[in-house]
Amino acid sequence: MITSKELRKKWIEFYESKGHVNIGAVSLIGDGSTGVMFNVAGMQPLMPYLLGRKHPAGTRLCNVQGCVRTVDIDSVGDASHFTFFEMMGNWSLGDYFKKEKTAWSFELLTKGFGLDKDKICSTVFEGEDGVPRDDETAEYLKGLGIKPEHIFYLPKSDNWWELEGTVGTPCGPDNEWFYPRHDTPCGPNCGPACGCGRYVEIGNDVYMQYRKLEKGYELLDHKNVDTGFGLDRMLLFLNNLTDGYKTDLFLGAIEYLEKVSGKDYDGDEEARRAMRIIADHTRTGVMLIGDVNGILPSNTGAGYILRRLLRRAIRYCRTLGIDSREMLGVAKVFIDEVYDEAYPLLVEKKGYILEEMQKEIDRFEATLEKGMKEFDKCISSIERKNEFMAKSDPAYVKETVIGGKQAFRLYDTYGFPVELTREMAAERGYSVDMDGFAAAFKEHQAISKANVTEAKGGLESHSDAAIHYHTATHLLNAALKTLLDKDINQKGSNINDERMRFDFNFPRALTAEELKAVEDLVNEKIAENIPVEFKEMSLEEAREQNFVGVFSAKYGEQVKTYSIGTFSKEICGGPHAAATGELGHFRIVKEQSCGAGIRRIKAVLEK
Ligand code: ALA
Repeated sequence: MITSKELRKKWIEFYESKGHVNIGAVSLIGDGSTGVMFNVAGMQPLMPYLLGRKHPAGTRLCNVQGCVRTVDIDSVGDASHFTFFEMMGNWSLGDYFKKEKTAWSFELLTKGFGLDKDKICSTVFEGEDGVPRDDETAEYLKGLGIKPEHIFYLPKSDNWWELEGTVGTPCGPDNEWFYPRHDTPCGPNCGPACGCGRYVEIGNDVYMQYRKLEKGYELLDHKNVDTGFGLDRMLLFLNNLTDGYKTDLFLGAIEYLEKVSGKDYDGDEEARRAMRIIADHTRTGVMLIGDVNGILPSNTGAGYILRRLLRRAIRYCRTLGIDSREMLGVAKVFIDEVYDEAYPLLVEKKGYILEEMQKEIDRFEATLEKGMKEFDKCISSIERKNEFMAKSDPAYVKETVIGGKQAFRLYDTYGFPVELTREMAAERGYSVDMDGFAAAFKEHQAISKANVTEAKGGLESHSDAAIHYHTATHLLNAALKTLLDKDINQKGSNINDERMRFDFNFPRALTAEELKAVEDLVNEKIAENIPVEFKEMSLEEAREQNFVGVFSAKYGEQVKTYSIGTFSKEICGGPHAAATGELGHFRIVKEQSCGAGIRRIKAVLEK
């Protein structure tokens, strides 16, 4: 059995012996330059260098890079789909090309991993779209001793690599390596492309010599190599396994889930699927929260994907019959035992990762039970209607679609990502009206926007009074967070020259003592006359520096931030007082309910 730790080491040592520098892994979160949300390939962070910029570490690089691909979230649960994986890579930036690369891949596979050269198969590009057939690579492969009948020419759909949906990015034809799992062909034409499952693709070398244009390709002025071998896949293959959850990457997590559930991974199909989903999604959650540019669950962008993953896993904890907090136990296995060497940052950030994961679990668990009931009600009301209609009209076609408004209610009130609702619906033979969901979503956004415009209305005049009230809302927000619950967030605000109104999430009325304490803390900060500092930064920086606020800006966009010492840090459009001393005396005049789980405070500033 070769372990993941040994495999990473073997890869790096081999390429170091060929003059490569190990550049280490970078963030999993895309840098926004290509519009790709996550790093989906080892080459992604190297894009500028593949296009010609000089890399500080030289022209021969290698690493093992974590990647996140989430297009197939719903397929996770089988033996071979994962949302996180690691790619073992090496690169030539205008240095060596096909001759050396074919030889090194061959050497590593045969001498390094002990594969039989008489069984190795290789596919090369057959030529298309003005790019010629790759005879050169085929010749080198033959020269190394690969049997000519084991070399296949395949079209662009198989042997061309590019980042889909991008323009201006490097790309090119590739040479893919395959190996048979067994010696019995499925027929006379059995080969890597026949899809019978006999051949496993173990990796590929891309001859990245082109730049992708709107239409077609242009030749780059230097020739690169971009290699990618999937660590997870290789591990499976080298250990002669077919279930990806049986490698050392997952053994500990599965064992833990078996222990806490009392169920048997091998013997119980439903439990097996649930364990796989919980393990995969928890792992990706750990990686995304614990990343150098770590993200948190939210309702937009990458944060939404993270939320979907965690909430899907939480739901499957129910299927497995375990408390969803057991996901933290799974997370610990990954952090302490599996990825401690390759991702030391996870160990450093362990407390934070577990805390944030727990928060998301608690948030969803608070509404999950009720949401499930609501979902069941949706289904039974359709069933009742179907039954009733079928009685009066034998030709009646049963309705099997959950309305968009209902799906939106599940999303908005109970925190069900719509994809989760769809999955639950599918299990019952239903679908979701996605157009209706989108329409309900849009309508809701329009209402929120109108509220924001209304809230801004008072500020439009930019009177001194309104500006002071605006700064006071930041102090109030921070005071509530400090004294009551750090998870309190602003849910709305309205300001005019006479008073401020501030809405926030909190489950009950504030006591007189609490109100007094909040008032006192705000007045204390006013007395300290703290300067209000303004700074523009990227959304990511703001998030990293723990600014609070609505993260609705697009990835990479600049946002305005205001800090009042270390007491309050908010993303906000402004304007604000120059220092808190200008505000006068802060007095709360009323505290009341303003919808389920939302409280409203009215306050005035007195000179
Ligand atoms: N960029 C290539 C891949 O992702 C190596 O497979």
